[in-house]
Amino acid sequence: MPGTGPWPLTADRGDGGVLTIGGVAVTDLARDHQTPLWVVDEADLRERCRRYVDGFPGVDVTYASKAWCTVGLLQLVDEEGLLIDVASGGEMHTALLAGVDAAKLIFHGNNKSVEELDRALEVGVGRIVCDSFDELDRLQALAVARDVVAKVWLRITPGIDAHTHEYVRTGHDDAKFGFTLSLGLADDALLHAQKLDHLDVVGIHAHIGSQIFGTDPFIANAEVTLDLMARWRDEHGVTLTELNLGGGMGIRYTHEDHPVEVARYGKAVLETVTERCEALDFPWPRLIVEPGRAIVGPSTITLYEIGTVKPLPGLTTWVSVDGGMSDNIRPALYDAEHEVALASRRSEAEPRSVTVVGKHCESGDLVREHAPLPGDLAVGDLLAVAATGAYTASMASNYNRLPRPAAVMVKDGEVRELVRRETMEDLVRLDVPLR
Ligand code: LLP
Repeated sequence: MPGTGPWPLTADRGDGGVLTIGGVAVTDLARDHQTPLWVVDEADLRERCRRYVDGFPGVDVTYASKAWCTVGLLQLVDEEGLLIDVASGGEMHTALLAGVDAAKLIFHGNNKSVEELDRALEVGVGRIVCDSFDELDRLQALAVARDVVAKVWLRITPGIDAHTHEYVRTGHDDAKFGFTLSLGLADDALLHAQKLDHLDVVGIHAHIGSQIFGTDPFIANAEVTLDLMARWRDEHGVTLTELNLGGGMGIRYTHEDHPVEVARYGKAVLETVTERCEALDFPWPRLIVEPGRAIVGPSTITLYEIGTVKPLPGLTTWVSVDGGMSDNIRPALYDAEHEVALASRRSEAEPRSVTVVGKHCESGDLVREHAPLPGDLAVGDLLAVAATGAYTASMASNYNRLPRPAAVMVKDGEVRELVRRETMEDLVRLDVPLR
């Protein structure tokens, strides 16, 4: 398992087979920080940022902070030279608090509120990605009131069906996001926006979905969007100069997943843009890509402690851990599979298929179904779940009033806290008693 498959770069096995990340034994982490615990491998995270920057030379790599948004994480990503995509006032606030220059922010969302848009204008976010006619008008009015001109991209729904889970597809025609190209709405949006004198449309954006394997959908996206930009030049006399191709590259959650290397993905996209620009005689645009999952996902494991083991003869062996769907909703929501390993010791016992579940009052509260784990799993053992950096903490809840776990970042034997564990006081902080 160490450093292979879905596990972070520095994952290793130390004395007695104890899993170490960043040179720190998970048993020490559990003792000092309790479980469940998100453990971020700093070296892995920085390496993934760098691979993107190297794999997409000349492109503005932007971290989609919806994957995981904390002040410390955004500071790290900012240090690595990435721009940051925010999709709400809360994500914007976090980025500003992290000290990120507002000009480096890209503001997304299909229903940004008046307050959110106004705040974006106030602080001067770099680009606002307009998603609807309502929003174009709303933003124009706010920009007039502030006497500023907003630089915007139009979010295009390009009609590309990336073959991924229904809930994370966004590029197909009948989507809640953006202006549907095939229905003529993208053209209408451009023409409408041209009449709004406080909006400066400088580019387009198209994100086709998430956890996508292979380069074909990304190539198709680049082709469709460049064709559109060239057609707008020819038909409407408008030459846009910026193209955001979104994020969406898949990652390894288990040994069965085989995503494309960033270098190959970058090369494929850049070659497509080169060929298409030449064929269309279109000037090379400023390009942006927006990975979230592929930056932060593989860097992190979740550490749980086993609380009960219930072998049902002839049926399932149920292994319950001290977290679950409140800290990782992905198995319940998308049937996602994350690899699980015994982390606190070596075991020579024959593997057997067990189902790891959380502690919530729901049968759908799965961590991993049919996981091959050592036959001697026992109460008190620590389990590590791989690739939990993206869309776990950011989608965490307090279901059953579980306090949300802490997150630590490890590197070269050092441990830094990224998020402190919630307390019982935190849980009731917003409750208003009736008496
Ligand atoms: N850009 C936009 C406009 C997006 O909507 C997203 C993701 C991204 C970039 C980043 O996509 P990524 O590189 O992370 O795939 N909760 C789901 C994933 C939802 C993705 C939402 N949008 C999951 O856990 O699989």
